[in-house]
Amino acid sequence: MDTSDEWIRVRSGIQERRYAESGQGSTDLGVIAARAAIAKAGLGMADIDAAIFATMTPDHVLPGNGPLLQAALGLRTDLPTFDLRQQCSGFLYGLELADLLIQSGRYRRVLLVGAEVHTGFMPWHLGWDTLIGQSTRAITEAERAENTLSRDRTVLFGDGAGAMVIEAREGVAGLLKTRLFTDGSGAGVLTMPGVSFKRRPFVTAEQIQTGETLPVMSGKEVFKSAVTLMPQAVREVCAEAGVAVEDLDLVLVHQANLRIIEGVQKALGLPPEKVPHNIERYGNTTAATLPILFHECLEDGRLQPGMLVAFTALGSGLHWGATLYRA
Ligand code: ACO
Repeated sequence: MDTSDEWIRVRSGIQERRYAESGQGSTDLGVIAARAAIAKAGLGMADIDAAIFATMTPDHVLPGNGPLLQAALGLRTDLPTFDLRQQCSGFLYGLELADLLIQSGRYRRVLLVGAEVHTGFMPWHLGWDTLIGQSTRAITEAERAENTLSRDRTVLFGDGAGAMVIEAREGVAGLLKTRLFTDGSGAGVLTMPGVSFKRRPFVTAEQIQTGETLPVMSGKEVFKSAVTLMPQAVREVCAEAGVAVEDLDLVLVHQANLRIIEGVQKALGLPPEKVPHNIERYGNTTAATLPILFHECLEDGRLQPGMLVAFTALGSGLHWGATLYRA
């Protein structure tokens, strides 16, 4: 396509992104992350009482990834799995659902997975296999021109997965407060109108050829909403919990665009080191950005026991919100 590394870095901060292999789905990535999370928690598969899978790129339209995860991991069959489709806010919604399932007293340990394989969205019939080094076929000028039409979206996304085990514990640590929001009047700013059960049939070969199966996005609208609504949600959740924004040790922001992350950091008046990012290495992995970032902060010691952490996200829906967590 007609783009440059400089354009992408300056506008989004993205330098690298990961693409899953052909035939590898979001369940496969989620299974890897879930195994690691369960092992790190010192638990076995039989200890999990419920599982939540957040993704906007499921292996199939039906069934959801939840039952596929259950079977692949060998989780008990006497447990519910929930499939969440809140896109970039999927993991945040999953945290709230997990917390409420535990608070209900019905479930003690909940596995929460956020995983995406966006690669299937790429216009494969236009030489994407060449672009990512899986073919040597020359891309024609016409194909290049068509790829350029979706360059504002295709450069932003990567594949990835993260998982957490959330369990009931005594004491002050854990999920403290959550505020979630929905405004469907903004549904059109990021949507995939080309595949729809309102159509008969729901998708055609022609739609694939004309690129209608790609999400459409009003980048500037998403950007504006993200830099205003995420800080607002963090402020609200802090106010409800009776803590000051300055008391936050870390704010983990959905990794959509480095400029959005920096905008949130400035709006909250926090120093950059309190608002970490890894978008430069993975791009936007939708439901997976928060758990991947959380994991990296835990692993490299930026996240220490006792710290006060806010998670925040915004995405297609529009859905957004914030969660406070004491490590
Ligand atoms: N390479 C080169 N040029 C490009 C590319 C590209 N990959 N993509 C778009 N352009 C061009 C456009 O064609 C347009 O050209 P024109 O002005 O001649 O028409 C121009 O660049 C647009 O430039 P800007 O207006 O400066 O772009 P902007 O600064 O708005 O950045 C971007 C675009 C990166 C999409 C930004 O709006 C953004 O990140 N928005 C948020 C979108 C997002 O994060 N979506 C993810 C899903 S939702 C979520 O996770 C929150």
